[in-house]
Amino acid sequence: MNGSIPDDKIEEIRSRADIASLIGEYVILKKAGKNYLGLCPFHREKTPSFTVSPDKQMFYCFGCSEGGNVFSFLMKLNHLTFPEAVRQLAKKVGVVIPERTMSREEKERYSLAEQIRQVNELAAGFFMKTLQSPAGEGAREYLRKRGIGESAIRTFRLGYAPEGWSNLLEFIEKKGISPKLAEQAGLLVERSGKSQGYYDRFRGRVMIPIEDADGHVIAFGGRIIGKGEPKYMNSPESVVYTKGNTLYGLSRTREAIREKGFALLVEGYFDLIALWNAGIPNVAAVLGTALTSAQVDLIRRYTARVAAVFDPDEAGRKALARSLELFLAGNVHARAVILPDGQDPDDFIRTHGREKMDEVLAKALPMAEYYIEQILGGRGTLEEDRDKLREAVSFLSRIENGVERNLFIKKVAEALAVDEDVLEKEVLRTLSRSPSAAPTALPRRTTAAEMDPSERELIRMMLEYPTRVSAVRDSEVLSCFRTEELKSLGEVLLAMDKVGKVMQDPSSLVTELTESPLRDKLLSLLVQESPYPEEKIDRSMADTIRKIRERANKERGRILTRKIKEAERTGDGELVDRLIAEMERLIKERASFS
Ligand code: UTP
Ligand code: MN
Repeated sequence: MNGSIPDDKIEEIRSRADIASLIGEYVILKKAGKNYLGLCPFHREKTPSFTVSPDKQMFYCFGCSEGGNVFSFLMKLNHLTFPEAVRQLAKKVGVVIPERTMSREEKERYSLAEQIRQVNELAAGFFMKTLQSPAGEGAREYLRKRGIGESAIRTFRLGYAPEGWSNLLEFIEKKGISPKLAEQAGLLVERSGKSQGYYDRFRGRVMIPIEDADGHVIAFGGRIIGKGEPKYMNSPESVVYTKGNTLYGLSRTREAIREKGFALLVEGYFDLIALWNAGIPNVAAVLGTALTSAQVDLIRRYTARVAAVFDPDEAGRKALARSLELFLAGNVHARAVILPDGQDPDDFIRTHGREKMDEVLAKALPMAEYYIEQILGGRGTLEEDRDKLREAVSFLSRIENGVERNLFIKKVAEALAVDEDVLEKEVLRTLSRSPSAAPTALPRRTTAAEMDPSERELIRMMLEYPTRVSAVRDSEVLSCFRTEELKSLGEVLLAMDKVGKVMQDPSSLVTELTESPLRDKLLSLLVQESPYPEEKIDRSMADTIRKIRERANKERGRILTRKIKEAERTGDGELVDRLIAEMERLIKERASFS
């Protein structure tokens, strides 16, 4: 299943990685006993049930049952195959995987994304170099006029795409890279009609690399110098770039966002760069499109508190209402920042300075409050009031959480001075009409299978204390197990080499258990802190073994009794004798329990 990466490499990568620090890059984790707790990145929740165990090097979410090891985490988070996750982690921990170990199909599948990132990286270097060359003088002047300093230019790797149709094309060809690949990356455009070949997409523009959270260049934005149309030219979407899943700048600002405990959400490249430049580094940008729930999920990896900037105009109002729904659904606490005179954050910070910006931020109202009081509230003409009521009903009916919805109904009724019951009825009517807006249930895997609790606990002890498994072997208690899954798991664990392996990496069970209906329960068991202290383990184990044997003994006794009665009825004397002898053994065994 690992393609052609050698097992020892995989093992080396796994042992070098630390799950808590890896996951800590994406999820805010708080220490809770031996484990860490955080908000699950795989489903939406308000109270943390996402658990990371550094001891066992695994994670498990008690809310959505997602769980596994470092590799499964990356696979799930970044939608990778197993070999891709291994390679990604290898890079992080500095393990080199020899290239030739990649299979051909794997190379093809893996490499398109990887190659696009590489060609983007090369192009970024080319643009950066050009900015510092004589050809970049005009662009440097432009950035100077906008007040962008050297360190911002370096941090955001700003560059310049020179005038002309084939500068990048020639560079790409000189590097021995196929123009087709650069075309797939969106850097070159294929000529249409009779003429053949490719030409540069970006010409005479300040180049802004767009990076993924790990700092790989996945796309570019290019701003025209001075006035002109289009103001920005952007890379098209590709296998590595989906606009709605990306927040610009995050790779450079996520640490600051964590530190400050909130993110300022802005609209444009230069808003972010200018704020960073002015000493406000905890910013992310949506790049001029409406906020998406994927972006809300992305930001929540770093903080659950956001201050989002909106224009005071009609379009800004609409964007605010829509964003508010997404923030509510995503459990992100959002405040609304409205800048005066239609200025964007870049304009504002340049005219008023950083301190004024801090003041505005400090005064920002919770977004829901702002929306209800400033947008919906206040009386107007009858027409206006009716429009507001409609907007309110549609907003309210899109709040997924019923408790929250009721709370908002109350507030909105007050702000609009309408009867609460009437408003509620209206909302409910809209709700029942639009199935898409109906509250959606949490995705939760259900496991029908049940485990025998004592058997489960014994397995858990075996996992916690591998040196004590001999007691389990000696007692032959596994033959008494009635939960088939646990029995086979116990057998696996009894093969000592497996115990060694599982103990080094308990999460390796995840792969062994993928088909098991008990997977979720076992994972949750594994990740929980052990209730068995070392000094009591022998005793606890012996007790549990006895309990299981006792139960099995009684059960066999019941069956024997039935069989004896049956044999007596049919008059099979020989069988009766054999069964009674067996019963005697059972009873003797029973005596040894007490
Ligand atoms: P704005 O028009 O607010 O531009 O678009 P801006 O960011 O303030 O840019 P400057 O300050 O004039 O240089 C906000 C964002 O919308 C996208 C860009 O991502 C931009 O940052 N946009 C805008 C485009 O992609 N293309 C355009 O032509 C305009
Ligand atoms: Mn601007």
